[in-house]
Amino acid sequence: MSPLSRQQLLGWGLTGGALAVAGAAGLWWGARPQGPAPRASPAPGPAAVGGGLREPDTLSSADGLLELELRAAPAEVRIGDRRAQVHAFNASLPGPTLRIRAGDTLRVRMVNGLDAPTNLHVHGLHVSPQGNGDNPFVAIGPGEAFDYEFAVPADHPPGTYWYHPHHHGHVADQVGAGLYGAIVVEDPEPLPVTRERLLMVSDLSLNTSGRLAGVSPMEQMTGREGELVLVNGHVRPELSAAPGERERWRIINACPSRFLRLHLQGQSLRLLSRDRGRFHTPVDVDAVELVPGGRVELLVETSEGTSTLVASSVDRGTMPDMMGGARPGGTGPVDLLEMTVSGNPVPALPVVPAGPVLPDLRGETVSSRRTLDFAMSGPMMGGPMMGGRGGPGGNGRPGPGGMMSFTVNGRAFGPDRTDARVQAGTVEEWVLTNSSPMDHPIHLHVWPMQVIQDGADGQAGADGQDEPGEPRWADVVNVPAFGEVTVRVAFEDFTGRTVFHCHILDHEDLGMMGTVEVG
Ligand code: CU
Ligand code: CU
Ligand code: CU
Repeated sequence: MSPLSRQQLLGWGLTGGALAVAGAAGLWWGARPQGPAPRASPAPGPAAVGGGLREPDTLSSADGLLELELRAAPAEVRIGDRRAQVHAFNASLPGPTLRIRAGDTLRVRMVNGLDAPTNLHVHGLHVSPQGNGDNPFVAIGPGEAFDYEFAVPADHPPGTYWYHPHHHGHVADQVGAGLYGAIVVEDPEPLPVTRERLLMVSDLSLNTSGRLAGVSPMEQMTGREGELVLVNGHVRPELSAAPGERERWRIINACPSRFLRLHLQGQSLRLLSRDRGRFHTPVDVDAVELVPGGRVELLVETSEGTSTLVASSVDRGTMPDMMGGARPGGTGPVDLLEMTVSGNPVPALPVVPAGPVLPDLRGETVSSRRTLDFAMSGPMMGGPMMGGRGGPGGNGRPGPGGMMSFTVNGRAFGPDRTDARVQAGTVEEWVLTNSSPMDHPIHLHVWPMQVIQDGADGQAGADGQDEPGEPRWADVVNVPAFGEVTVRVAFEDFTGRTVFHCHILDHEDLGMMGTVEVG
């Protein structure tokens, strides 16, 4: 935490209890005069933006162990030039960054300071789903605590992962309110870069009093997108570098629903990693797309000038006509941060060594094939989402408050029902189909997916032959509207019961989640 004088804090109206909160949260501190707080807008004016890019505190493992407490609770933070009432881990937006190594044990005492049940998911980590591991069925009531222990295998791939609550029915609200943080699994050998940055992208909407704006049933169905898009909890931060640097950016899409298509004009970008591990060879890219929950690591090789990291809008389909055909994600491009490269060039760095050869399931024997269809169907009548209020409008349209149901193979999530039984140690092929007009980014816990065919690039043979090229691994795979994607999963190392679901977190909360039991 940077040293802030009490005078400065008083100047911002932060005293007493708020001081401790704001101190841990990391204040934005462009020394600009504060006017009345305007309604948050997608493209805030200059008075609301800027300040150097800041990162949450980092907690690193030592001697194979990282032990900490994460308290999920309401917190007051500064976003742009205004105070905001959010929910945060340890009063920090994002929560602390956890840096561990393969083979480590991560122990987290999760304390629920919210007024709703919650729990914790370590997104992307290949760890046991049982007991007090990465168990999405745990419920921590308000005022309660739960001790998690995640034993990270010695051969766990390095990479950028993250943590967030995962209690069904509350996930979009809690992540959307600010409950998220990064997990970094360190490389066995550091890469030759001049600097590493963590960029956790999130979005939220605030009302004029700085509280989280309510979310309408239509926004839930399309998947909520916040008006403010933040990087490490800040609006359009600034960063600087010298020419010739090679920075490693770890970017996490922690937005509940927003897809990010990122550009950084004027700088050279290479994709080092997507979701986990790293590519054998970094790939030159002009833009990268991150679905909700997705991560990329970029090598940014700097050239003199000023560049803006822009998230352009992504077409992720439409709501069905019966629901008015609303289009999600129509907010247009958003500037995420500004980078100024100036000064004396730095000396050239050694080349980035090749990464390990990635595992490949294309030659493996598949023991079972399943089709999982992700769908949206007519308004849910009288269900808990509607409080029994809605009803059809007489012309096939839902009445006020009418919600569609979001299903996997025709059924909404049932925590006690097992949707897929898998024999431990086998490789399965899953055909993920989408019979709805919206994209659904599908996430499987614990075991990563290798994309075998996505039908998008025309590479797959008509006879169903596999895609050529380097194996593509991901833990969130976008299944486009009315499209399908085939993945293979090696259900190795662990047994137990967990979930797969749409990572548009509103869709997950509305039922688009299934269970898988491996044993
Ligand atoms: Cu996740
Ligand atoms: Cu979805
Ligand atoms: Cu999940």
